[in-house]
Amino acid sequence: MTAPSAPAAVLIDGIGSLVTNDPALGEGPLGEVADAALIVEGGRVAWVGPSARAPRADVRVDAAGRCVIPGFVDSHSHIVFAGDRSREFAARMSGRPYEAGGIRTTVAATRAAGDADLLGNATRLLREAHAQGTTTLEVKSGYGLSVTDEERSLRIAGRVTDEVTFLGAHVVPPEYAEDPAGYVDLVTGPMLDACAPHARWIDVFCERGAFDEEASRRVLTAGQERGLLARVHGNQLGPGPGVRLAVEVGAASVDHCTHLAPEDVDALAQSAEGGEGTVATLLPGVDFSTRQPYPDARALLDAGAAVALAGDCNPGSCFTSSMAFCIALAVREMRMTPDEALRAATVGGARALRRTDVGHLGVGARADFALLDAPNHIYLAYRPGVPQVAAVWKDGELVSG
Ligand code: NIG
Ligand code: FE
Repeated sequence: MTAPSAPAAVLIDGIGSLVTNDPALGEGPLGEVADAALIVEGGRVAWVGPSARAPRADVRVDAAGRCVIPGFVDSHSHIVFAGDRSREFAARMSGRPYEAGGIRTTVAATRAAGDADLLGNATRLLREAHAQGTTTLEVKSGYGLSVTDEERSLRIAGRVTDEVTFLGAHVVPPEYAEDPAGYVDLVTGPMLDACAPHARWIDVFCERGAFDEEASRRVLTAGQERGLLARVHGNQLGPGPGVRLAVEVGAASVDHCTHLAPEDVDALAQSAEGGEGTVATLLPGVDFSTRQPYPDARALLDAGAAVALAGDCNPGSCFTSSMAFCIALAVREMRMTPDEALRAATVGGARALRRTDVGHLGVGARADFALLDAPNHIYLAYRPGVPQVAAVWKDGELVSG
């Protein structure tokens, strides 16, 4: 028997612009280093700095003057599902409004699908996300809505990610249409019992047509009592209590934030002051695909709120896995600077998932990064719709390219 060999140190050299997201390592809020190199060892970043000072390594990869960024941390997706809703999208583009009830179409298709089909679809979408630079992807249940279908959705989610979210409170399924309170009892009782062991997070769709404030509070606190961490879908389709409820229960994130009152912005800004507050996660791909206004990112940023950008890949409100597309929308439509948008899509997403090991490329961080076919990160918004991710590493392993 031979002794296992030490993991090889890999030098990524000739990086024209390296975004570390660590201001101590380079210029500006992105901690940008020009003519940089990065050493990866044992799945972690072992060294970062100017190319001219790079130590030797076992293997050398030439970035040929291109840009390296931390992998995107996409903190919101619903990729465990079957079926498609392209016709619903087409109808929406002709004027039909988006309604929470459309979720039930996907619930019917998901319940009818086999495990292998659900896992196959989720795996295909995960690979699609990797190929576009995403290295951390949160995945929710929420298209099962029975004890067995939610549990199997979470098991399948756990095959593709560590960031698994129990969203039994997505909408009330048809069999509980006459007894919505009974469904909340199910979610906070037997369904939570079956699902809690398979998830890190609990989520609720706090919205007209889904769950009201009181039901949402019950769901979140029941999950927290079982050791799950809270996150919330809020203020997507209109003004509402979602944001303030998220802050009240200490959720890591409130997602959508399309319709915010000034008090919501204040609550988010205040909660960000304490460090581990509630992040406002903006999902511009949803607003694009549902013809909603875009969230007021400037009000949030200027007030001091913590902001993340995420994709929300799902068959109903937004069927994209492209974080670059979300960045382009955030810059063009929401007046975020390219620097703010990239930070929100990386270190912002990490904060929304309460992670410090991803979203940046300081020494000791996970070696999760993307090599762009571009000289700098501004190109992500500057060349919308153009594939610009040349290669992607996750935990130091090449996962795409
Ligand atoms: O994040 N808002 C609730 N859930 C998803 C949409 C799900 C669907 O329409 O199937 C979202 O937008
Ligand atoms: Fe969602």
